[in-house]
Amino acid sequence: MTELTIAFTLNGERREIRVPAHATLLAVLRDELGAIEVKDGCGEGVCGTCTALLDGEPVSSCLLLASRAAGHEITTVRGLAPAGALSPLQEAFVAHGAAQCGFCTPGMILTAHAFLRRHPRPTRDDIRRAIAGNLCRCTGYTKIVDAIEAAGRG
Ligand code: FES
Ligand code: FES
Repeated sequence: MTELTIAFTLNGERREIRVPAHATLLAVLRDELGAIEVKDGCGEGVCGTCTALLDGEPVSSCLLLASRAAGHEITTVRGLAPAGALSPLQEAFVAHGAAQCGFCTPGMILTAHAFLRRHPRPTRDDIRRAIAGNLCRCTGYTKIVDAIEAAGRG
């Protein structure tokens, strides 16, 4: 089995790791680096639960080879605020009751975080389009849209 040594930044911390050449970023984050906040849902690019930010842009980590992260900055939901604190968007999810089982929540928040950086005061339709790739089985989406809209208003 071919292995590679790769280095990247995970939530602000430099990590260097030896990985199988075929390993996905999802597998490396969860199984090797303990980043279990990145959820393993469908494994085929459909559900969005495995979303991470690669240099600030959302990616499906189940579809990305870990080697693609080499030299880049990876952010998970834990990296959006200092330890023990919440980002304004995370606060809005709490305030609006936008999580039930929570399985979709890390990916949803990362997608919304990147979206709000580009579209600070989005319409509800814009928000629905932005999170279309992040599936939620529980909430019916209304409270999620409420939370993202509130965070966008600041
Ligand atoms: S686990 Fe990656 S998109 Fe579903
Ligand atoms: S809160 Fe359960 S899947 Fe979204």
